[in-house]
Amino acid sequence: MRGQATLGVAVIDETQLQAVTGSGELVRVEGLRKTFRSGTQEITPLDGISFSIERSEMIAIIGPSGAGKSTLLHILAALDTPTNGAVYFGAKSLKSLNEIELAEYRNSAVGFIWQRHHLLPDFTAAENVAMPMLVRGEPMTEALRAAREWLSEVGLADRAGQSAGELSGGEQQRVAIARALANRPALLLADEPTGDLDEGNAESVFELLMRLHRSHHLTSILATHNLSLARRTGRILVLEHGKLVPTANVSAGMASASTAQMATVEAQISGELG
Ligand SMILES: Nc1ncnc2c1ncn2[C@@H]1O[C@H](COP(=O)(O)OP(=O)(O)OP(=O)(O)O)[C@@H](O)[C@H]1O
Ligand SMILES: [Mg+2]
Repeated sequence: MRGQATLGVAVIDETQLQAVTGSGELVRVEGLRKTFRSGTQEITPLDGISFSIERSEMIAIIGPSGAGKSTLLHILAALDTPTNGAVYFGAKSLKSLNEIELAEYRNSAVGFIWQRHHLLPDFTAAENVAMPMLVRGEPMTEALRAAREWLSEVGLADRAGQSAGELSGGEQQRVAIARALANRPALLLADEPTGDLDEGNAESVFELLMRLHRSHHLTSILATHNLSLARRTGRILVLEHGKLVPTANVSAGMASASTAQMATVEAQISGELG
């Protein structure tokens, strides 16, 4: 059944799978620190970050350019490793996974959406969406069948056979979303997924993400510069100077956030967004 968070057996056993599909915490980050060195220069975009995310939460990460949003998402996706600190997915620390388990985690436990879609332009939309399923060992026929279903779910049933390079920016991002969900990950990470789109497309792609988040029981983390979209998620985390700035919880639609609380958030990021 679609919508059920699944993980490959290499990463997680049956008991842990239950933990992932149940309620409670899905991701926990403890004392995360990341330092980049180039020559004599040292940059520490993440300087002791701790937070946790409940299953089914959708949160936004905002902060000025260079604040470390992408760095954080890359570490959560196991595309990069922290200098110090730990990321727990369910009961497992990513540090405890071997190379095969990490590959499985990247391919199946997590779906990643980049600002630029990173599709293979000469392959069809369906082939692009099928790619993670083929990597996982699905037979081609089954992978392409499932890919067409995903494309239909993102509103592109009639574009399945078209080369990805021929699609519009908004359509390409929808294909990228279908590809990110192809292996039914529990965790969806999106790095400025609407950053390259015009206002209309940004709105419809964001709405699509919200709909898929709910219908597939995802836990979603979005890095964004778009404060009005961020406000429509369940919670906003503000990254600044390597730290998480404490802010009020913001419910979807700002229902429970006071004007003063949001003014604080806005002031904190006004340099970048204002
Ligand atoms: N591989 C790397 N090597 C050296 N420095 C890096 C590397 N990746 C990121 N950085 C630096 O780390 C800091 C954080 O970068 P990051 O891309 O995470 O910021 P960001 O919040 O995503 O910014 P933006 O909003 O512009 O996307 C920046 O100063 C960046 O130059
Ligand atoms: Mg970034």
